[in-house]
Order: sequence, then C-alpha cells, then structure tokens
Amino acid sequence: MERKRTILPDWSTLMPVRAEPGPRGAALYAALRRMIEDGRVPPGAKLPPSRVLAAQAGMARNAVVAAFERLAAEGYVVARVGAGSFVAPDVPRLAPRAPRPLPAPVLLPALPGRLGSAMADPRSFDVLRRLLARDLARPSAAHLHYGDPRGAPALREAIAGYLRSTRAVRVHPDQVMVTSGAQQAIDIVVRAVLAPGDAAWIEDPAYPMAAALLRGAGQRIVPVRVDAEGLDVAAGRRAAPRARAAYATPSHQFPLGVAMTMRRRLELLAWAREAGAWVIEDDYDSEFRYAGPPLAALQGIDDAGRVVYVGTFSKSLFPGLRVGYAVLPEAILGKAIALRERTDRQPSTIADGALAAFIAEGHLAAHVRRARKRARAARDALVAGLAQGPLVAQAPNQGLHLVASLPGWLDEARAIEVAAQAGLFARPLSAMHVARRGRTGLVIGFSGFPPEAFAKAAREASARLARLAPRLARR
Ligand SMILES: Cc1ncc(COP(=O)(O)O)c(C=O)c1O
Repeated sequence: MERKRTILPDWSTLMPVRAEPGPRGAALYAALRRMIEDGRVPPGAKLPPSRVLAAQAGMARNAVVAAFERLAAEGYVVARVGAGSFVAPDVPRLAPRAPRPLPAPVLLPALPGRLGSAMADPRSFDVLRRLLARDLARPSAAHLHYGDPRGAPALREAIAGYLRSTRAVRVHPDQVMVTSGAQQAIDIVVRAVLAPGDAAWIEDPAYPMAAALLRGAGQRIVPVRVDAEGLDVAAGRRAAPRARAAYATPSHQFPLGVAMTMRRRLELLAWAREAGAWVIEDDYDSEFRYAGPPLAALQGIDDAGRVVYVGTFSKSLFPGLRVGYAVLPEAILGKAIALRERTDRQPSTIADGALAAFIAEGHLAAHVRRARKRARAARDALVAGLAQGPLVAQAPNQGLHLVASLPGWLDEARAIEVAAQAGLFARPLSAMHVARRGRTGLVIGFSGFPPEAFAKAAREASARLARLAPRLARR
C-alpha cells in the first residue's frame, strides 16, 4: 500500500532565533514567515505544536503562541481548533528566482584576440603580493577612516610623477583623481563639463564605452570622422562649432590606430580655446609603443587648460585592478570631486597603497618593459599568422590591437564566426561606428596570451577563412 508522503519542513532552521537580538517571539515570527513565503513550508503543511517548538527553540510557550497568532492574523496560517496550525492554502509565493539571463555575450570567451586582456606577470604579482601583505600586516590609519575622494596622496603623487616623466603631462598631484578605471574617470568628467542636451564631439568610429557614457548622460553626441591624421577638426567645426566637449584618443585612435598629427592637435586645441570647450584626452594604451619616438600627450601642449587627461592601469597592468585616473584642470576640479564623492566616496585604499609603492619603487616601469616586449612578440605572431590567409593586417607600431581588413568577398560577421571557431576572437569594426555602420573589418587584440597562442589561432583562422574564398579568388 502506498503511504501518503508528507513534506517535513526542517524546523532546525528556526533555531538561529536563539542568537538573534530583540524579542524572541518576533524573531520566530519572521523566521516562520520567511519559510512559508519561500515555499520551504508548503501550503497545507502542519506547523509543530507550540509546546514542541517552544521546547526546541528554548523559549516561552506564550511567545510561540503569539507568533502563531500574528501569522494567523496576517493570513499566513490557519488555526483549526483541536487539530493545530496549518500553512494557509493561498499564501503569496515569494521564492527568490534567478534573474533572467542577460543577453549574450556579456562575458566574452577568453580567446586570443580578445581586447583588453592582460597576462599574469609572475614577477609583478609577487611584488604586489609582498606590498599588500606588508600593508595588511601593519594596516595604516588610511584604511580605517574615510579619506580624500581623489584617492591617497601617495598614489596621486606617484601617478603625477609617472605622467610627467613618461607623457610630458603638466600635472600637480592635487589635480589627479584616482578612479575605478578610465571608465569612471570619463563618466565623472562628462558629468562635470556637460549639461544634458549639450553637444559633444566623439571620434567616429570610437571606443563604444565612451560613446555609451556620452549618450547615457543625455548629451547630443556629434560623430566626427577620423582620417589618416586623426579626428577631423574641420568636420567637427562644421557639424557643431559650439559643442561643449570633444572625446578623443590622440596618441592611438581607438579603434583605427591612427596617431593624431601635430597639425590636428593644434587645430583641436585652437577650437577648444575659441569655443570654450573641453577636450577629453583618453590616453589608454600609450605605454605600448614599439617604434619611433613616443608621442607626448595633448595635455602637455595645451596652454589654455582645456584638456582633461584620462589614463588607466587596465592596459599597463591588468583590468581587474580597476585603477584609472583623471588629471583635472583647476576650473573643474571642485565639481569633479563633488561628483565623485556623491556616488563613490573614494577609491580603495588597499589597492591604492600597494600601487603607489609599486610605482614609486620602480616596479611599474620594469613591468611595462616586460609587457611591451611580450606584446610586440604577440603582435608579430598574430600578423604573421594572418598573412597566411585572406585578411590584410599590418603590424601597428603602438597599442595592443590591430584592425584587419577583409577582402571584398568576405562578410564581416561570417569572418568573425569562422575565426572564433578557429580560436581567434575578433570584434566587428562596423559596430564601433557612431553615426552609421561604416567600414567593416576585424578588431583583434594581441595581449593577454603568449605569442604561440596567437600564432596558432591566427594560422588556423587564416586556413579556415581561405577555404571560404570563392573558386576564382582562390585560384
Ligand atoms: C579607448 C579605451 N579607453 C579606455 C579603456 C580602459 O578602460 P578601463 O580603464 O575602464 O578599464 C579602454 C579599454 O578597453 C579603451 O579601449
């Protein structure tokens, strides 16, 4: 004979009410209600007799009775004379549900070619571990109190020194704001210099996250074409002469890789001065220069104080560190500090302390030298592998990514799909256009993996892509 199965709730989960502060009956009521709402005690289930529960929970019986009565009054429980208390048949179900999955691909596959990847450098991680351990062994007072919204003075000084010597940026440590990556720096600057509805120029194509920030803040974004000299200032002047700001990547245009010529830099600064506009200079990957003299930052040749310089350790170190910075002209410093403090009181003192020592003790410079060497080898391996197939790519002399051009017969989306099947990740250049879908191509990174991984993935992708060629083209 089949026995009727009863679901026995685990009443032991109620036991923590012993440790909870406040009235015991109230804690018991809350615990029972949670169990009923999330379905651990199903509708119709019988609650244990108040006497038994009181003994188990080590509390007075009348406190249990009071909890049952409150549950009954609110409709969670029905008391049947002589039979006991039962979970009501129609209580609301509030079981926590997993949120709906986000549209893919939120987490991109960890394949060679993915943009923004870094490699774990054992020497640097060793030093960081030692610096963090040293700090945590004798925690400084800075960890225990709120501090300057711009970040720790030691890190701001280290960043200022680094930017003066490597990028010719004109900077006092008081102008430096340490941020959660370049992303937060751009966000704060955008909100500091633009009101909703203001026009802002953006390079076209552009770094999609910068475009998203400008759009999200309710600005009217004005796409400005990029040619072989960088942002076309004359085109910007024609489209929106009175714009309030321009976002640009002068040292290494993202994604096209062009370095802005001196002529264009001077034109851009002249426009900013005349229009009273701000130039947001995103100098995200300037540490990676492989040939020719390093190009100084635009900020360093700006006499009018119209350039806001933004940088990051996401490329030079690794993106999970979440440390970037802005060098803020005096005119917007106060506003930017207030904006930062309002949403994100200050940066992490733990990461910042270790990073300040890492820079001051010369480890960053050594790290960048090693990373640059690795990236150059990875770039060469990628370019050599791509040369075996139909994509056309030249070795860039700066940065951590390249743009490969497609032959006329090869569709961008199809090429990306086939490359991914071969283990090479790429992003569509067309999707980085702001105004309209423009030139197609494959944006491929060359950091985060050893050269051999790039050689293998690019060779395999080339072979597979070559097989797609129409007969005539293949010959
Ligand atoms: C143009 C550009 N700016 C900034 C960043 C860095 O962003 P974050 O410092 O927020 O990681 C990237 C990273 O991909 C980038 O491509």
